[in-house]
Amino acid sequence: MLTATRPTRLAVLISGGGSNLRALLDATTADPGFGGEVVVVGADRGGAAGLEHAHTAGVPEVVEELTAGADAATRTAWEHRLAEGLAAYDPDVVVLAGFMRILSGGFLERWPDRVLNTHPSLLPAFRGAHAVRAALAHGVKVTGCTVHLVDEEVDHGPILAQEAVPVLPGDTETTLHERIKVVEHRLLPACVRALCHDRVRVLGRHAEVDLAGHRSAPPE
Ligand code: GAR
Repeated sequence: MLTATRPTRLAVLISGGGSNLRALLDATTADPGFGGEVVVVGADRGGAAGLEHAHTAGVPEVVEELTAGADAATRTAWEHRLAEGLAAYDPDVVVLAGFMRILSGGFLERWPDRVLNTHPSLLPAFRGAHAVRAALAHGVKVTGCTVHLVDEEVDHGPILAQEAVPVLPGDTETTLHERIKVVEHRLLPACVRALCHDRVRVLGRHAEVDLAGHRSAPPE
C-alpha cells in the first residue's frame, strides 16, 4: 500500500461512458489483494453516463461542469473546485479514465507522480482527444493503448505500460476503439494496482513498473 496503514484511496475522473471506471470498480472489489479502493468519482459533465457506475457502487460523485470555450480564469477556478471536491475524500491517487480535459500544474502538484491516464494509442503517436480516429486516418496497422503518469504536457508523462492492438480490415473508429478498451480494462487496473503496492519507480521520463509478473523497465 502507498500508505502502510490503509488501502490506497483512488479518485477516478471520467467524462463519458465510464467502462474503464467500471473495470476499476470491478477489479478493486473482486481482488482482496488489490490494495486500493475507489473513494470518489469526479466528472466534468453531469450527463456523463459513467456516473451510473459510481451510483450503483455507492461511490460518492463530484461533478464540476466546465462550459465550452471557457477563458483561462474560468478554467483555473473550475480546476480548483474540482481538486477541492476530490480532496474532501482524501485520495492518494487520481486516475483519469476517459477524462477529456487537460489538467494544469496547479492540479497535478497536489498529487505528484500520482495522477495516471489511460490513452487509446501507443504514445507518443496520436496524442489528443481523437486518437483512434487519427490512427485509422493515418493507416497504421497496429495501434494500442498507453497508461502513463500525467504531466503538464498533453498525453506525455512517463509511460507505465503499453499494449498493441492490431488494426483489422474494415475497422471503424467504434470497432477499433472497443477492442482497445478491452485491453485498457486489463492494463489500467494492473497499473493502478502496481501503484497501490508502491511498485512504480520514476526516473525522469522512465518509469519502472512491477506489474506482478510483467516487468517493464527503462533501458540501461
Ligand atoms: C478510453 O478509451 C480512454 O483511453 C479514452 O477515452 C476512452 C474512455 O472510455 N481517453 C482519451 O481519449 C483521453 N485522451 P470509457 O469512458 O468507456 O472508459
